[in-house]
Amino acid sequence: MTKLLGISGSLRKASFNTALLRAAVPLAPEGVDFTVGTIDGIPLYNADVEKESVPEAVRILKEQVAAADGVILFTPEYNNSMPGVFKNAIDWVGSSMTGAPNVFAGRAFALAGTSPGNFGTILSQNAWLAVFHTLGADLWSGKRLMLPKASSLFDADGKLIDEDARKRLASFIEAFADYCNPASR
Ligand SMILES: Cc1cc2nc3c(=O)[nH]c(=O)nc-3n(C[C@H](O)[C@H](O)[C@H](O)COP(=O)(O)O)c2cc1C
Repeated sequence: MTKLLGISGSLRKASFNTALLRAAVPLAPEGVDFTVGTIDGIPLYNADVEKESVPEAVRILKEQVAAADGVILFTPEYNNSMPGVFKNAIDWVGSSMTGAPNVFAGRAFALAGTSPGNFGTILSQNAWLAVFHTLGADLWSGKRLMLPKASSLFDADGKLIDEDARKRLASFIEAFADYCNPASR
């Protein structure tokens, strides 16, 4: 069994990136257990708070990352970079300030994203590279998934209706799952 964890970097109910993550779950091939993680409920990072006790939402996401063979970030793009709420969540989860192990170290991760504009989160994805480099994660660069013009890919209920995007998403998930398969690593 290959365990994948997907995390959306948006808190919006009608988020295109959360919709993309939801669309990915049933596209995972057989033998893949795909968990959906959330950044909802994660407070602003504060080392004083962390020293006292790790917030519940952070603890859960940390455990999910630690249990995963691979993590996929479904990242929006804000001001040509990643959204602050998402960076904040990853800062919490990757923190080893209190002596806890860095759960991202050596862990496979991949980047995906969609935006209403023409570039499909390319600059946000690039900005994440430095973060995960610092965390010592294992970047999978086998494929890139940047889906522009998000408004035309989903219906009003957030269902991925664009056939080409669906195919690209399925092939992305399949290839990353293959890379993360503990039997072949
Ligand atoms: C503060 C802010 C900055 C944004 N900057 C960008 C940007 O640089 N590039 C881009 O493609 N979209 C940008 N957008 C538009 C987002 O891509 C769009 O709101 C998208 O729907 C956010 O992702 P979500 O649907 O998953 O919440 C920005 C939106 C906000 C609120």
